[in-house]
Amino acid sequence: MSEAGPKPRMRSRRIAGRNQAGRAGATIAALKPSSDRPDFLGFGLGLRPQHYSEILEGDPPIDWFEIISENYMVPGGKPLHMLDRIRERYPVVMHGVSMSIASTAPVNYDYLRDLKRLADRVAPRWISDHLCWTGVHGKNLHDLLPIPYTQEALDHVVERVQTVQEFLGRPLTLENVSTYVQFGTSEMAEWEFLAELTARTGCFLLFDVNNVYVSAFNHGYDPETFIAGIPQDRVVQFHLAGHSHMETHIIDTHDHPVCDDVWTLYESAVRRFGAVSTMIERDDNIPPLAELVAEVNKARKIAAGVLGADGRNGRTQ
Ligand SMILES: [Fe+2]
Repeated sequence: MSEAGPKPRMRSRRIAGRNQAGRAGATIAALKPSSDRPDFLGFGLGLRPQHYSEILEGDPPIDWFEIISENYMVPGGKPLHMLDRIRERYPVVMHGVSMSIASTAPVNYDYLRDLKRLADRVAPRWISDHLCWTGVHGKNLHDLLPIPYTQEALDHVVERVQTVQEFLGRPLTLENVSTYVQFGTSEMAEWEFLAELTARTGCFLLFDVNNVYVSAFNHGYDPETFIAGIPQDRVVQFHLAGHSHMETHIIDTHDHPVCDDVWTLYESAVRRFGAVSTMIERDDNIPPLAELVAEVNKARKIAAGVLGADGRNGRTQ
């Protein structure tokens, strides 16, 4: 991983270092691939504390919000109180950063119990995390780390996804991460790994358009190849975000507006995947809400240009 330039984004997260084998009666069994893709929610935004009051007082034109799960996996306090009020008005989805689904560490059932408890309270439309690992041997490295795309890794992640889905009682949604290194041992492309993972587990995919752009630039492939390699009926959400271009490489910093190239790639993604719930993901240099609403509306306009006025035509279930 590059040592130069700004650090990759480190979203606020709780350290989940309590791995243990205490399972709640779950057994490992494959869930059948699910064809009941969640409903299209429209155009949303990552919920950030800076905007709580403005959202509750201003009723902004945002269709739904995504929360960072770990920020609300607590017994009480102001963030949870604000979330309770916001979810009375808007659909909410949960997005985690600590599941470490690809790790070789034991599944962290304490984490999963807390996640399920939050889901019972919030009733999210879906629960997502990343195809990555964040730690091993009791250490959380607080970053979304890449994996080798091998058959062995695929078998391992398939079993872990099945375990988590069985525990949560619902399909998981997994996001492609930005990467800065590749493994010489990889036997398939990232999109082939994701396609096989969703086929074998029934999990859904969160397609981060910016992450595809970043990884494609860093590793020198055409991002359109990635789009073409993902199954059309498994993507339930798009992320759009800004990054830091260092000329020789790109770092996924989430501290800028979405750039023109990523908007163009988003248009291609909408053309392939149809009406998919889309949101702006900003984690640093967080601007006033109005600036993010303008980006949400830009996504809305681009999707409408491809799919029609309500952005819903072309939705494949
Ligand atoms: Fe993302």
